[in-house]
Amino acid sequence: MSQSKANKLWGGRFADGPAALLEAINASIGFDQRLYPADIAGSKAHAAMLAAQGIISSEDETAIQEGLDTILQEIESGRFVFSAALEDIHMNVEARLAELIGPVAGRLHTARSRNDQVATDFRLWVRNAIDGFNEALKELQAALLDQAETHADAIMPGFTHLQSAQPVTFGHHMLAYVAMFGRDRARMRDARARVNESPLGAAALAGTSFPIDRKATALALGFDRPMENSVDAVSARDFALEFLAACAICATHLSRLAEEIVIWSSVQFRFVSLSDSFSTGSSIMPQKRNPDAAELVRAKTGRIVGALTGLSIVMKGLPLAYSKDMQEDKEPVFDAADSLSLCVQAMSRMIREMTVHTDNLLAAASAGHATATDLADWLARKLGMPFRDAHHVTGALVKMAEDAGGDLADLSLAQMRSIEPRMTEAVFDILTVQYSVASRTSFGGTAPKNVRAAIRAAREKL
Ligand code: ARG
Repeated sequence: MSQSKANKLWGGRFADGPAALLEAINASIGFDQRLYPADIAGSKAHAAMLAAQGIISSEDETAIQEGLDTILQEIESGRFVFSAALEDIHMNVEARLAELIGPVAGRLHTARSRNDQVATDFRLWVRNAIDGFNEALKELQAALLDQAETHADAIMPGFTHLQSAQPVTFGHHMLAYVAMFGRDRARMRDARARVNESPLGAAALAGTSFPIDRKATALALGFDRPMENSVDAVSARDFALEFLAACAICATHLSRLAEEIVIWSSVQFRFVSLSDSFSTGSSIMPQKRNPDAAELVRAKTGRIVGALTGLSIVMKGLPLAYSKDMQEDKEPVFDAADSLSLCVQAMSRMIREMTVHTDNLLAAASAGHATATDLADWLARKLGMPFRDAHHVTGALVKMAEDAGGDLADLSLAQMRSIEPRMTEAVFDILTVQYSVASRTSFGGTAPKNVRAAIRAAREKL
């Protein structure tokens, strides 16, 4: 090659090197270098297949395999020098291979293109991230289950509209999150099945005339099968969108739990205290214990949902097959995965180390006429009143209690009878929060015995 400034890999028809600005906008090595384990694994599988098919010699394969092993060690030990002039991880690895083993390196790219290479690498990366989330979310579920078990019959106010609604147990409330994170894991598993197909061998977009064995490379890389259509194989990024969608939904769940922790740990609620290691002080107000980590979990949901929106817009309207736009797929996925991973881990620790103030939960549950529905149910059941009438009578009793500055259970039988003459002493039993939760035995209800059974079932599933 006479033109020294031209790119070594595709410089055949370029006389000049790229302008600095082109290099700056074009290079992805700054962020795609983290694909290196997948990139090298993909190359090793490809080289083995080329040799097995008689497309390259076994001596050449050996040289390539050894060179790739050396590169892996160089990257892992921090000795590898990444170059922006070489654009991306694929060309950085290939150029280094040429330095190490000479022109034989050029045979590795037979029957392959960076288009199928990057799609392969990225799928392997996302698959690995999914497996990590499966474990991390399981750990979070375990932390929630431990709190649920300890407080299986601790009574707290259940809320709707953040207004006291009906008493529930703290264990039941924790189990709601166990269920949500269980679905998040299932969503990740579902996404994994579609991620786990191999684009390798689709080459630039049309396949290749070399007698390659796509099944062999797919299986070597742990994929379930090769993707069926070569154009689809290099142009599809719905696997990344689906992963981001699963991350975004999971983040919204985390943000709801985070928000509850922010509310519950406030002086006004005092339902829980975060451990010292998860509370921060204020530089001016000495009394403060701020739930910064919970607030940041709540906030990071913004960038995770943003990543899904961002990549959706990158992909919208792109003609088939590969376009360089698709290089913008990686940063949102990396950022969302990193952020979500931090959030899940921080939340697990916060939940594990959180102290639950059951006396405050009980006091809060007993205020705000939280057993009014129990009274209405009782009127309907015992007196045979239509539920709408029972609701009306109970509403009148709540108003009477409120006018007297007290709670429903503070009314006397005589006061109650002034509104519903058939009222009996038995009504006072059903006005307790203990009765209320114990009576909610319907499937999925908050009765402590249901909660205990649900914890056992959830533990078995885990
Ligand atoms: N760095 C590129 C990316 O991430 C690799 C694929 C480049 N393909 C190409 N035809 N220029 O998408």
